[in-house]
Amino acid sequence: MTAMTVNARPVDFDMDPDTPLLFALREAANLTGTKYGCGTGDCGACMVLVDGEALRSCLVTIAEAEGRFITTIEGLSRDRSHPVQQALVAEQAIQCGFCTPGIAIAAAALIRRNPDPTAEQIREAIPNLCRCGVYPRLVQAIQRAGRVARRRETISAAPAPGIDPADAARAVPGMRVEDAVPDDLGSD
Ligand code: FES
Ligand code: FES
Repeated sequence: MTAMTVNARPVDFDMDPDTPLLFALREAANLTGTKYGCGTGDCGACMVLVDGEALRSCLVTIAEAEGRFITTIEGLSRDRSHPVQQALVAEQAIQCGFCTPGIAIAAAALIRRNPDPTAEQIREAIPNLCRCGVYPRLVQAIQRAGRVARRRETISAAPAPGIDPADAARAVPGMRVEDAVPDDLGSD
């Protein structure tokens, strides 16, 4: 068994210790918000927070993640209220959305250590590939997320998707509504 904390819940993976964390999260924990793009560390679609640092989960084995605190896109906030999530929606910095979870994770890590990044710092800190080319809006969104994080601005909540949270979470263990995720997880 390989034990770690995923989205504030203790998890034991009964898998080969060399299994990439990406596959454990997607195939065993059913946290499919973390995307499999290249599998070779190039695209960033698989990024998750490992002890607060944005890492490519296709390059991290579960043995290397043992005992660490993992946050996936599902755990970034319980209600899509993380400043990065709010700003990505408000700036319409999403097209197909495949790259978005990894970008949101990388941006959350950046905003946490530097809530007022320059455009250049954003380009350096967000290596993620986006085939739809959202890069210009991404800079605006991440700077706006920083303003929200610094409480210089507020963004109205995105409209609810019209799906009962219990229905949305039914097949996703990491999102079961009875499992409390701290409100401030990854958002300060
Ligand atoms: S799937 Fe991990 S970097 Fe592309
Ligand atoms: S929004 Fe489509 S790959 Fe980035």
